[in-house]
Amino acid sequence: MTPLRRPVIAGNWKMNKGPAATREFFRQFKPRCPARTDRTLAFFPPAVSLMAAAEMARDRPDLLLGVQNIYWKPEGAFTGELSGAMAREAGARFTLVGHSERRHVFGESDDDVRRKVAAAFEADLVPVLCLGEKLEERKAGQVEAVILRQLDAAVSGLPEAHIAGLLIAYEPVWAIGTGVNATPADAAAAHAVLRRRLAEHAGEDAARSIPILYGGSVKPENATELLAAADVDGLLVGGASLDPGGFARIALSEVRASG
Ligand code: PGA
Repeated sequence: MTPLRRPVIAGNWKMNKGPAATREFFRQFKPRCPARTDRTLAFFPPAVSLMAAAEMARDRPDLLLGVQNIYWKPEGAFTGELSGAMAREAGARFTLVGHSERRHVFGESDDDVRRKVAAAFEADLVPVLCLGEKLEERKAGQVEAVILRQLDAAVSGLPEAHIAGLLIAYEPVWAIGTGVNATPADAAAAHAVLRRRLAEHAGEDAARSIPILYGGSVKPENATELLAAADVDGLLVGGASLDPGGFARIALSEVRASG
């Protein structure tokens, strides 16, 4: 098992949990989920709660943190935005980039996503590049075309060494927050398409080492079967990551010992 393909189980809290609720979450989560060396756990609280999370994770270096979004400029007159360097300083190791809600609620383009991926590396953050098709695109048989377009745009101009350092999250838009998850077979098929393209961009070794997470209505009940699917190297969990007990169950799911 290559260390990078250790399964990654991540919680995207979206716009939920201020600092007090964040502290309470970790108070409950830590005893339910002892440290494990065979997986990586990461949390994406709202940026205002990042330092509270960092404080709560101080005695648990296995619990890694990230932000949900960054802007691509390092500083300046960009009201409401957050730079990668600031997020890093406050305790983030990762940043989500191009989450479906950023793309579809806030109008982020493929080109915005490309800039943010590059900015994440500048700030020494690992970008978790999120991509996935909408329901109408799936119905029109465009899954492959859409996710490859999103991937190609995001890595355009990126050095191969950086591509090799990406995490990818395949999150079909129709599965996010709907209770309808992709089947393990659907996830495996999309992940295989992405991994083949990653090999074209950065070589076979890099493609093999890049974790590709599945996200979209992951729950304690379906986590194990999704993690067992070919090419699924982890999970990005939204709603079900808000409950410490439920997320601990997901985080402790059985994982494949290979990569
Ligand atoms: P969900 O969200 O688990 O609530 O479907 C996943 C995500 O948006 O990352």
